[in-house]
Amino acid sequence: MKIDFANLQKQYQSHKSEIDCAIQQVLDASNYIMGEQIVSLEKSLQNFCGAKYAVACSSGTDALILSLMAIEIKPDDEVITTPFTFVSTAEVISFVGAIPVFVDIDKDTYNIDVNKIEEQITNKTKAIMPVSLFGQPSDMDMIQQIARKYNLVVLTIPTAIHYPIPLHLQEAYKYLNYQRGDFKEAENLSKKIISLPMNPYLEDDEIKYIAESVCNAI
Ligand SMILES: Cc1ncc(COP(=O)(O)O)c(C=O)c1O
Repeated sequence: MKIDFANLQKQYQSHKSEIDCAIQQVLDASNYIMGEQIVSLEKSLQNFCGAKYAVACSSGTDALILSLMAIEIKPDDEVITTPFTFVSTAEVISFVGAIPVFVDIDKDTYNIDVNKIEEQITNKTKAIMPVSLFGQPSDMDMIQQIARKYNLVVLTIPTAIHYPIPLHLQEAYKYLNYQRGDFKEAENLSKKIISLPMNPYLEDDEIKYIAESVCNAI
C-alpha cells in the first residue's frame, strides 16, 4: 500500500468551498500585493502570537531570509544552527553569504545541544538558529541566556523534516569541510530515525497498515 506522507488533495477536498471562496475573493479584488486578505491574515497572526508585528511571506524560506536581512547578517558572518533539520535552515544562511556553523544535537530531544553552543561562538558569530523538531521546542531559556551573554540574535523555526544524511555531510555543505564523526548524535540518529505518515486524513486501513509495518519492523 502506498500512503502519502501528507495528503494535500484530501485536505483541499475537506475545506474546498471555504478555500475556493477565499481564492475567488482575491481574484475578484485583483489586489495581489498588500490586499485586504493579507492585512487581515497578518492581524490575526499578530493577535494569535501576541506579537507586536506579523509579516506574511510567500514561504518559510523567504521569512528566514527576510529575518536574516533584517538583522543585517552579512557575508562571512557566522550563524549557529543544527545539522539535523530541513535544508532551508542552513540554505538561507548561505544565501545571504554567511557561514552556517553546525552544533551537534542532544541525544534525547534531537534539538541543538545547548551545552555545545558556546564552544562554537567566535567574534564572527551573529545569531543562533535553533530548530524545534517534531513540535518539541529547543531549550530556549538556555539559548536566550547564551544569546544575551554574547549579544546574539535568536531566530527560531519549527520543522518535522530530516534526512538520512545530516546537513554537514551533504554535498552542498562539502565546502565547509566537516567530516564524518564531527556530530556523532546527528549522524547516529539519521541512521535510525524514520518518519511515519501522520495526518488527519488517513483512512482506518492506512493507519492499520502503518501500525502493522512498525510492529513487523521492531
Ligand atoms: C526548518 C525549516 N526551515 C524552513 C522551512 C521553510 O520551508 P518553505 O520555504 O518550503 O516554506 C521549513 C519548512 O518545512 C523548515 O522545516
